[in-house]
Amino acid sequence: MIISSSADYRTAAQKRLPPFLFHYLDGGAYAEQTLRRNVEDFAAVALRQRVLKDMSRLDTSIELFGEKFSIPVALAPVGLGGMYARRGEVQSSQAADAHGIPFTMSSVSVCPIEEVAPKLKRPMWFQLYVLKDRGFMKNALERAQAAGCSTLVFTVDMPVPGARYRDAHSGMSGPNAPLRRYWQAMMHPRWSLDVGLLGRPHDLGNISAYLGKPTGLADYMGWLGANFDPSISWRDLEWIRDFWKGPMVIKGILDPDDARDAVRFGADGIIVSNHGGRQLDGVLSSARALPAIADAVKGQIKILADSGIRNGLDVVRALALGADATMIGRAYIYALAVAGQAGVKHLLELLEKEMRVAMTLTSVAKVSDINGDLLVRDR
Ligand code: FNR
Repeated sequence: MIISSSADYRTAAQKRLPPFLFHYLDGGAYAEQTLRRNVEDFAAVALRQRVLKDMSRLDTSIELFGEKFSIPVALAPVGLGGMYARRGEVQSSQAADAHGIPFTMSSVSVCPIEEVAPKLKRPMWFQLYVLKDRGFMKNALERAQAAGCSTLVFTVDMPVPGARYRDAHSGMSGPNAPLRRYWQAMMHPRWSLDVGLLGRPHDLGNISAYLGKPTGLADYMGWLGANFDPSISWRDLEWIRDFWKGPMVIKGILDPDDARDAVRFGADGIIVSNHGGRQLDGVLSSARALPAIADAVKGQIKILADSGIRNGLDVVRALALGADATMIGRAYIYALAVAGQAGVKHLLELLEKEMRVAMTLTSVAKVSDINGDLLVRDR
């Protein structure tokens, strides 16, 4: 199969992965309306084609939080991402590092912080959820800081789990389902040949490092289920801001009022995100949420955006709608599932190429020139 886009990686990933893992990755909440709109609304953003402006010297790089990025993209935190290839977080982060962009480790990753961070040339970003077990949060923050992680991504749109029908149907959720499906998957010949879970089949590294014992998928589901914390408020975040020395970014902002609160709180950035359509179905897509948020806080705080970005053209669209940078989730995990580190490397090359085409044909030579002027307005 010829692979020339993230859509091709998705198709190939579906052929390769055990169904419960594919649907956990690919699916969203309830009827998946927001999941679909995330993609469709970016795709519907029309850009003004401009020509004959000598675009022979293009610069796709940016600087954010004192770090240089080769393209305005970071790898988003993906829980259980390490299940999609052998030591998956190591492979993804290596590809990001080689391309010159940050990798964000999910707090619920397979590989622990200490396995991934030391292998990288640039600092890793670390994501944390709000959890009832504040001991885990503190432990994870201390370890992330000790490992030299630079930016903290604090995810606030998961005080309760989203209802994902596909997971229930595939056996990913429900009593004892993970363990059963997990072992079925391990015995699947196509899968067990080269996926490294067999090496340390039960480990979810960051959690076992805290609990002091191996943590399997079923334990993890139970632990996470007991740890959602709907009581969280801005005030609870203050100790984290005081504790964390580097930049802190709030992930899961969809409303201009919350963006203003993030500025007041003293966050360094926000991530406009609906968790890839995995939490509350029916909420705004990121493409539609971005302009009002940018109007409210652009220039006061850095704006990142994710949810629905599938190619380099979407990256340019997100920036034209008001983002300073973007994150990708599913797109890189599809590639990881198909071809490991080489797949993620290829995906990032595709993204950069697509960005270059979009910048050339909209006549913007550098990323800081990408703004609302690129958008086709109703005339
Ligand atoms: C996620 N996402 C996520 N976010 C987060 O803050 N912590 C996490 O552990 C996870 N886990 C996770 C698992 C899977 C399988 C997916 C698909 C997503 C959300 C993720 O960081 C990001 O917001 C979305 O993936 C962005 O949407 P796209 O790029 O997938 O459309």
